[in-house]
Amino acid sequence: MQETLFDVHRPVRSPLRYPGGKTRVARRFAPYFPEHTDYREVFAGGAAIFFYKRKAETNWINDLHPGLYAFWKAVRDHLDEFAELCRAEDTPGSQQRFNHWAFDQRHLMVCRGDEHLLERAIQFYYLNRTVWGGRVVFDPDRKSRLYFSNPEGWTRIEKKLAHLRKVSAKLQGVEITCRDYAECIDGATADTFIYADPPYYRESTGHATDKLYDKSFDVGGHHRLAEVLHNCPAKVMVSYDDCDEVRELYPDWHHEPLQWKYSGTYAVSKEDKANGRKEKKVTGQELLILNYEM
Ligand SMILES: C[S@@+](CC[C@H](N)C(=O)[O-])C[C@H]1O[C@@H](n2cnc3c(N)ncnc32)[C@H](O)[C@@H]1O
Repeated sequence: MQETLFDVHRPVRSPLRYPGGKTRVARRFAPYFPEHTDYREVFAGGAAIFFYKRKAETNWINDLHPGLYAFWKAVRDHLDEFAELCRAEDTPGSQQRFNHWAFDQRHLMVCRGDEHLLERAIQFYYLNRTVWGGRVVFDPDRKSRLYFSNPEGWTRIEKKLAHLRKVSAKLQGVEITCRDYAECIDGATADTFIYADPPYYRESTGHATDKLYDKSFDVGGHHRLAEVLHNCPAKVMVSYDDCDEVRELYPDWHHEPLQWKYSGTYAVSKEDKANGRKEKKVTGQELLILNYEM
């Protein structure tokens, strides 16, 4: 694959569709980025903020999802081979291929370390593109919820690969890990900027069918996160759904409410579906929580 002459400090769109992803709102967060030399995105998902901002001297993206980890690592270190795998599947998306990866090869999605890295990477990428809203959530009790709902997500492969070249360029030199977020705080200093975008609070109290992520939190998980972040010397920015419970976890930090339209987060009514609409936009109220002065 050809070298890309690309300014890695410029914004690039995340190549993933990700539930709760911040690609569309990253520029709204920019005024709140503090000065820093070390950047850590500890619940990376689609890593929209990392891809939007200037690179710091040192950069680290982390997520507990092994499939996602494999994807980022393959794009950083094995782009040519990964591109060949994508080209080999360069026929319109198919239900059969989806089922093969989502169910027959399910064990790959929970692999640890770098075993079967490229296979896991293409599996995750394909599922992420071809499931509605990028919701690659597997529930053994409700297999029917993970289905081939966005076939058009696997088209124009060469265009996707051209974009992945920029993504790969920006990922060079970035540390990529698959750990619990609490293990990414070690060694942080006052020059470190940690961005934490945990699973939504409402996900922990809502119905299991509302699950957006394979790796999610219970209510205690949100309390643990607040404790870990309060004991960290870094500059920390947390983004959350805006509710009293979240505000009470960070009573002493600055609260900045933000509003934007989400799309694809909520399923549409039967009537909309009949009219061919798959997504609806709703206004969401989110909260940025900062432990530093702007
Ligand atoms: C709200 S999403 C992040 C979205 C991301 N900011 C974006 O723009 O795409 C939350 C992420 O946290 C990850 N996660 C859940 N529990 C975790 C944990 N204990 N440690 C690290 N990551 C975790 C999930 O896999 C999910 O990708």
